[in-house]
Amino acid sequence: MNVLFAVSECAPFVKTGGLADVAGALPKALAAQGIDVRVMLPAYGPLAPILANAEQVGEVYGVDGAKRVYLTRAEGLTLLLVDAPHLFKRPGGPYINEAGVDWVDNHLRFAGFSRAAANVARDGIGGWRPDVLHVHDWQTALAPAYLKLDQRGGPPSIVTIHNMAFQGVFPSTEIDAMALPRWGFHPEGYEYFGQVGFLKAGLVYADRITAVSPTYARELTSAEFGMGLQGVIAARRADLVGVLNGVDLDVWNPETDPHLAAPYGVRNFRAKAQNRTALAGRFGIDIEDHAPLFALVSRLTRQKGVDLLLAVLPRLLARGATLAVLGSGDHDLEAAFRAAATAYPRRVGVRIGYDEPLAHLMQAGADSVLVPSRFEPCGLTQLYALRYGSPPLVARTGGLADTVIDANDAAVRTGAATGFVFAPVAAGLLADAIDRACDAFADRPLWTQIAKRAMKHPVGWEVSAARYAALYSELVGGAEMTGGADGSDD
Ligand code: ADP
Ligand code: GLC
Repeated sequence: MNVLFAVSECAPFVKTGGLADVAGALPKALAAQGIDVRVMLPAYGPLAPILANAEQVGEVYGVDGAKRVYLTRAEGLTLLLVDAPHLFKRPGGPYINEAGVDWVDNHLRFAGFSRAAANVARDGIGGWRPDVLHVHDWQTALAPAYLKLDQRGGPPSIVTIHNMAFQGVFPSTEIDAMALPRWGFHPEGYEYFGQVGFLKAGLVYADRITAVSPTYARELTSAEFGMGLQGVIAARRADLVGVLNGVDLDVWNPETDPHLAAPYGVRNFRAKAQNRTALAGRFGIDIEDHAPLFALVSRLTRQKGVDLLLAVLPRLLARGATLAVLGSGDHDLEAAFRAAATAYPRRVGVRIGYDEPLAHLMQAGADSVLVPSRFEPCGLTQLYALRYGSPPLVARTGGLADTVIDANDAAVRTGAATGFVFAPVAAGLLADAIDRACDAFADRPLWTQIAKRAMKHPVGWEVSAARYAALYSELVGGAEMTGGADGSDD
């Protein structure tokens, strides 16, 4: 089975969030199931050293001429890099410029990349041909549309929804520039309220749709979570399935993580305390033995409910608890967190920015990781928190609901509890959950029980990779798990 995995970010090469973590880990887990997965990525600036050692395997058309495609192996992945320097080799991030504003030609950049993916899916490249095209979020969601709207057809496709809040909607005046066939511009096609909807196109034209957790898959049919596309989702309900994300167990492993002050596991759990001390030191926070050090590692946006955390900060601090924050995002929220650090010196520490090594230390050093999201398609930070024995405190939504077991009386009694869950998402209920976590923390044997149970919760990719593998097989029409449609691989 050959799979073309087209995606706009991939850890550790280029990352803005969980999508990159998934793209860096799932293909490895699929490879372990015998699938030949090639991860197709734009050759962004930071990939230049990798590109320099890659082999050119062909050329492909995007929307503005032929682009060279390079093949290489890096970080356990097989990469197909699309070299289009005028589109992708820029300072700033994959989607925004250095001033934090979306690139004005994002529609051309990602329509071009999507069309290139569709062409490679249809024609193959360098003698390799995929049986399935798997795309992710709005940035690559046009690829299934290019395939389906072209008379030549192509292999079956899957679109995975990582976040419905980002839909990729652009003016219809750009249709020709994006080389989109006009006959798809209607409500049952890629048209979306008079504009071009990238994610909508994927939801219409892909053969299957997946969402990154079972709960999010169900939530998407409601207006609140469907965000305008709930009708399209409802129409495709039979083709929609929720497949829970996992984590890369090699990258996120407290026993081997190079970014920790001290490694630890379930067996030498006590060593975790050294990371707590180190983290507090990094943030200049005075921690207390009887009260937890909470951590937040997050985009600072409304989705993440971090404004609720700001609102309940006085109650958290009244318990003697402390807070370390690493994040970036909306300027008003960044400013509010900075102000909180000033208002509560040595109790609240804030780093505005993006810092991968520090994110690892925070998972290890925190007593509990906070994820008070209003919606969360899957969420990876709570999975890292589970693995690092830092019982997550989360809102009961999306993937958070699917992965954390609340420390209510029954779950504590049976030893099943792995964290703290609150619902609905409101400041008062978040504060109550923080109180409960503080109470539990004061009972050291209880806390250790919850933390160790959290560490044993399975968060790897194995089960979900098998789900994707089964989906691929279903799509190519058979139980041919051990061989490509052309029978060419193992
Ligand atoms: P989302 O993709 O919605 O942002 P996820 O929980 O799926 O949420 O993934 C977030 C990923 O980004 C995690 O790997 C988390 O550690 C990382 N992350 C978020 N903010 C930062 C930051 N400021 N510095 C380093 N890593 C961050
Ligand atoms: C999105 C979602 C997040 C999910 C990630 C990876 O960024 O916001 O919940 O974990 O994609 O699927």
